[in-house]
Amino acid sequence: MNLEVHLDERDLAAALRADVRTGLTATPKWLPPKWFYDARGSELFDEITRLPEYYPTRAERAILAARSAEIARITEAKTLVELGSGSSEKTRLLLDALLTHGTLGAFVPLDVSAAALADAVARLDAAYPALSVRGIVGDYTRHLHHLPDGGSRMVAFLGGTIGNLLPAERAGFLGDVRGVLDPGEWLLLGADLVKDVRTLLPAYDDAAGVTADFNRNVLRVINHHLDADFEPQRFDHVAVWDDGNEWIEMRLRAREPMRVPVRGLDLEVDFARGELLRTEVSAKFRPERLRDELAAAGFRLRQRWTDDDGLFTVCLAQAA
Ligand code: AVJ
Repeated sequence: MNLEVHLDERDLAAALRADVRTGLTATPKWLPPKWFYDARGSELFDEITRLPEYYPTRAERAILAARSAEIARITEAKTLVELGSGSSEKTRLLLDALLTHGTLGAFVPLDVSAAALADAVARLDAAYPALSVRGIVGDYTRHLHHLPDGGSRMVAFLGGTIGNLLPAERAGFLGDVRGVLDPGEWLLLGADLVKDVRTLLPAYDDAAGVTADFNRNVLRVINHHLDADFEPQRFDHVAVWDDGNEWIEMRLRAREPMRVPVRGLDLEVDFARGELLRTEVSAKFRPERLRDELAAAGFRLRQRWTDDDGLFTVCLAQAA
């Protein structure tokens, strides 16, 4: 199996320590969403994608199913790179179309989770024997310079994960992606659209409570890796729509006053009753904003598609 590792357990542990110390000593408290995804968190996220309320995955899949052949025709990509690839499940629609079109030779999924990536690469090797599949264990905010060199590459960043970056991080990320591409190469970006809160909020606060469990999972991750004593059931799941920023914010609200030891950091964290801990921002976009942010990073928007219900969008942008 072809796996290239730029991030090991020690790097991840150091990053988690730094993030938890920064976030839990800040006012207001916050944690970056990337720490949701241990094995249990990834399973919970998979479960979220199948919930009736969570439309983004289905909407993006519908767009890719309808448009992959067109994407293959326009880009004629020889290498497909996928950032934050996870299981690469929807990506098969792109792989199939690019293989049918006859241009694709290599697939390069990049993900922070070595386990998820190894699993995905093994499955893809079995399903696509003619394709060169090379997994890169890395962080897409740090290891883009390890992507293979040029020749008609398309970088896919799907799922609406761009929304989990704060505006300044987003601009930095798009600029970095542009920086590793040659003029004429491609970025395929999936982004969730601004819409009625009656559709948005339930997607982040489902009736079955799966998102609540996913949200609390970050506390279990900290307990496990940093020898902390969070009691997840003493935190309520909160999802709010921030109208000014046009993003969903997920928070955990302390049900009562607590003092939580985080022994691995030699830290005690105090929570007042009702205190909020921000765990995720999930920005929603207007098409003009996507076009402008892509342009500011040096991309020209070439095509943009939405699903039939206008919930989600996939943008095809070309490095200028
Ligand atoms: C698909 C990772 C972008 O923000 O919608 C799902 C993660 N958070 N439910 C999103 C998530 C809460 C998700 N991403």
